[in-house]
Amino acid sequence: MIDCMHDTSALASLHAACFDRPWSEESFAELLKGDGVHALGDANGFIVIRCVADEAEILTLGVLPARRRAGLARKLVRAAMELAVTQYRVAHVFLEVGAENHGARDLYAGLGFICHGRRRQYYANMDALMMRCDLTKGGSSASGDEKEGGAQP
Ligand SMILES: CC(C)(COP(=O)(O)OP(=O)(O)OC[C@H]1O[C@@H](n2cnc3c(N)ncnc32)[C@H](O)[C@@H]1OP(=O)(O)O)[C@@H](O)C(=O)NCCC(=O)NCCS
Repeated sequence: MIDCMHDTSALASLHAACFDRPWSEESFAELLKGDGVHALGDANGFIVIRCVADEAEILTLGVLPARRRAGLARKLVRAAMELAVTQYRVAHVFLEVGAENHGARDLYAGLGFICHGRRRQYYANMDALMMRCDLTKGGSSASGDEKEGGAQP
């Protein structure tokens, strides 16, 4: 069951288990004060999304290494999109992902995100791909539909 998460200590622990450069509990607390920012998750994974006007950005997403490849990230993205659609009437969702993060790229592509640009050296040693999902064209899914595709750079 994916719920809203307000426990910044748990979020920081999950983030530290998923990323080389962990975000602190304080930075999560600050982030969650922002308008339209929501964290969702459970003991094994989390997602943070920011909704502004009719757009939403996935700010971070992670699943504990031992819990991967069981569909949790897909559930988290769908839950965040459902929140964005029902509470904010969001039409588009976007994000940046490491160009070499093939697992995450496949995850997003499978949910209807397409790649529409590249930011050179956005991360310390890697380009970022900009991905976007158009919910008005049936992209991804709050509704649970899967969509193949997603342009690769
Ligand atoms: C990317 C991440 C969130 C995926 O979490 P997950 O729970 O394992 O993903 P899911 O099980 O929901 O996978 C859904 C689909 O994504 C793709 N996918 C996920 N991980 C993959 C991998 N390592 N290799 C290839 N494809 C992968 C597959 O298409 C998968 O579907 P399938 O299992 O039916 O083949 C997780 O690996 C993680 O936390 N990584 C470190 C942090 C990170 O990179 N976050 C994303 C930043 S944008």
